[in-house]
Amino acid sequence: MFGKILLAVDGSENALHAAKMAGELARTMQSQNLRIVTAFNAIPSYLGEPHVQAAIDARLKEYNETLRVVLEAVGEVPSEIHTELIEGSPAEAIIEVAQTRSVDVIVMGSRGMGTLGGLLLGSNSQKVVAHAPCPVLIVR
Ligand SMILES: Nc1ncnc2c1ncn2[C@@H]1O[C@H](COP(=O)(O)OP(=O)(O)O)[C@@H](O)[C@H]1O
Ligand SMILES: [Mg+2]
Repeated sequence: MFGKILLAVDGSENALHAAKMAGELARTMQSQNLRIVTAFNAIPSYLGEPHVQAAIDARLKEYNETLRVVLEAVGEVPSEIHTELIEGSPAEAIIEVAQTRSVDVIVMGSRGMGTLGGLLLGSNSQKVVAHAPCPVLIVR
């Protein structure tokens, strides 16, 4: 039923909970594909060199660390794992990948790195739930 899973992660605690859940789902469903997507904001070119390169390096370092922890949380899965780092708005990137890769389910956290603690759902999870082409599993 959930042969292709899209897991969306930022560096948040909830995204890690989502990663654990995505791993469970992939094992239970014997999913053939697990795609892990992270979006980042464009680095403004007006920063100039060497700042642009330094910003890219810092982002990559942070991303690699996030991915390491996320993969640990996912655990052993029977699925092929693909990772994607995409420039742009997280919600749009997640929806676009879900469409182009025809995924069967999106797994993501209820909240992210945002600071608006009062909200039940983060801005990206709200948008994805509203516009996704497939079921969305929101993990707390
Ligand atoms: N840049 C991102 N790339 C991929 N997934 C993301 C990104 N930001 C958030 N997410 C996913 O969306 C979930 C909810 O985050 P978000 O809606 O941004 O909440 P908040 O508004 O609290 O930051 C996260 O747990 C993560 O699964
Ligand atoms: Mg956020």
